[in-house]
Amino acid sequence: MKRLRNYVLYIFVLLAYQFAAVCPVTEKEILLQFKGNISSDPYNSLSSWDSSKSVCQDFSGVFCNPTGNVHKILLWNTSLAGILSPALSGLKYLRILSFFGNKFSGNIPIEYGDIDTLWKMNFSSNSLSGQIPDFLRKLYYVLSEDAITPNLDLFLELASE
Ligand SMILES: *[C@@H]1O[C@H](CO)[C@@H](O)[C@H](O)[C@H]1NC(C)=O
Ligand SMILES: *[C@@H]1O[C@H](CO)[C@@H](O)[C@H](O)[C@H]1NC(C)=O
Ligand SMILES: *[C@@H]1O[C@H](CO)[C@@H](O)[C@H](O)[C@H]1NC(C)=O
Repeated sequence: MKRLRNYVLYIFVLLAYQFAAVCPVTEKEILLQFKGNISSDPYNSLSSWDSSKSVCQDFSGVFCNPTGNVHKILLWNTSLAGILSPALSGLKYLRILSFFGNKFSGNIPIEYGDIDTLWKMNFSSNSLSGQIPDFLRKLYYVLSEDAITPNLDLFLELASE
């Protein structure tokens, strides 16, 4: 009997896990995943990014559209270090991503190519490296090639909306 109960419990956990895997995550969860990949936040710029807070009302640097979806993230001169979380690609209404003046390292995640609404990115003054992902070359019309040093330092803007 006990074995059967354990078995039923096991099936239940398995189903719950699969449900969680297919169930879309909320924008708050996405932003908290992004925060999870920040290794240093010297000015506590993301202290308001807390699961008990409201994304649109409380998260500093996050701006929402009238329907309550994140459409802009501005984190300027905040010296944030870490990698850019691929999770941001789950923000389906994101239009502007501006991380000027931070210490993000690593690549621009290829997943950002999935954000159809994105039209402006400013990653100037960071420590990004690697290739410019192909999707950015296709998507964006201003790609200041002269700003690209061995450390990727770029500003990108889409030709038209
Ligand atoms: C980024 O966060 C994810 C979980 O969201 C984790 O699996 C991964 O190891 C993190 N990477 C780094 C470099 O912190
Ligand atoms: C960022 O910091 C630099 C250097 O202190 C300053 O010149 C610049 O105006 C700042 N930019 C923003 C957007 O805060
Ligand atoms: C990125 O944004 C900052 C802050 O607004 C601005 O000063 C800087 O000129 C932008 N970068 C480029 C390459 O335009």
